[in-house]
Amino acid sequence: MSLEPFTDDDPIFRRESVLRDTYTPETLVERDRELREFQNALKPVVKGEVPKNIFLYGQTGVGKSIATEMVLDRLKQDQENFDDLNVEVTYVLCKNLTSSYQVTVELVNTFREPENQISGTGHSHGAVLAKLWQHINDIDATHLLIVLDEIDSVGTDDDILYQLPRANANGKVDPNNVKLGVIGISNDFTFRDQLDARVQDSLAEDEIHFPPYDSNQLRTILHDRAGNAFVDGALADDVIPLCAAFAGQETGSARQALKLLYKSGDLARSEDVSMVEERHVRAAQDLVEAGKAKDELEALPSQSHLTLFAMLRMADKGLLPARSTDIYDYYDRAARAIDADVKSIRTIRSRLSQLLMKGFLKKTQRNEGLNGGSFFLYELDIREELIREVLQEDDRTKQLFSEGSKQSRIR
Ligand SMILES: Nc1ncnc2c1ncn2[C@@H]1O[C@H](COP(=O)(O)OP(=O)(O)OP(=O)(O)O)[C@@H](O)[C@H]1O
Ligand SMILES: [Mg+2]
Repeated sequence: MSLEPFTDDDPIFRRESVLRDTYTPETLVERDRELREFQNALKPVVKGEVPKNIFLYGQTGVGKSIATEMVLDRLKQDQENFDDLNVEVTYVLCKNLTSSYQVTVELVNTFREPENQISGTGHSHGAVLAKLWQHINDIDATHLLIVLDEIDSVGTDDDILYQLPRANANGKVDPNNVKLGVIGISNDFTFRDQLDARVQDSLAEDEIHFPPYDSNQLRTILHDRAGNAFVDGALADDVIPLCAAFAGQETGSARQALKLLYKSGDLARSEDVSMVEERHVRAAQDLVEAGKAKDELEALPSQSHLTLFAMLRMADKGLLPARSTDIYDYYDRAARAIDADVKSIRTIRSRLSQLLMKGFLKKTQRNEGLNGGSFFLYELDIREELIREVLQEDDRTKQLFSEGSKQSRIR
């Protein structure tokens, strides 16, 4: 086969980067209420007072991170208009940071030069916290806002969420040096409810909910982007409404809608046609579907992977649907087989609810006569093959599949 020369001719896209997740749009459409609430919650900062701690929650792709970036950029610009106001912002993406210790290390490192970073091992949590207070006390600003994005990663190891919001009140950070505020962001609805009541109160003095977008809102968002992204006339009339309808029905995620539109354009371009049409959107939807479930499965924490493994085993034996206590037994054996920490049944129940929320499981209620009470039964609601594929590619769980390993005990 001979290669064609590369050309930059493109009948479809003018600037495709506008459709990527990394692109920051100039304005956030359809989020007026949320932006207003957000700015209002930051009012104490502008007035020179101690910030309120703010908690943003809502499903994935509904604009929480981008809204935070925009609002804080604006605050940094506008602070020039106020005397004696100097706001610093520290942003930490907590995805993959699974303990308070790791988050604290990451925070400390945001204050340090690349050559002075501390490592994630070898210091006690107390020592790392002490460094953090030192850095915060030393900064030359009236206010410090710490953004902890995707904070649900820390799970129940949430000490830092207790420490940070109270640092001013507890004398760890002198409010005369710097007034500290925390902005926590989460797309896991079970996370906030699980937090210790004291943490909930201090972390979420103000809560801002970002609801999913409906199809009409998604249309507006897509139109807003498409103007720059596509060559004039390259989109058939029904393309944006169809992308918006798919994403609106399923998730209400702008990320999903944008991805679908991008993929549709990409498919049209690869066919060398000059217009994106409905059939491209349908083909793209099929591709996105398969890829999305896999990505989401891969991104789950290892306790969820082990829970899914337990359920796969039970499915093989015809034991599903099953109660959480029975699933826990299988989970326990799987965790031991690979020397993973064995978490409590409470943790596994919360993993089950998260899997349920993500649509990987189904739950039914069973009533056992008058005295039996009622309980829930769980089963898988996603292709077993896909789970198996993901768990077999994962460094930790793949051991569970190799013959002759300790896992033979759990058959
Ligand atoms: N109202 C909007 N207008 C324009 N673009 C938007 C809007 N809302 C979201 N987006 C775009 O959708 C994508 C996802 O948004 P964002 O990253 O803020 O989601 P999120 O709520 O933080 O999701 P996650 O919980 O997965 O982190 C980004 O590319 C963002 O630019
Ligand atoms: Mg985000």
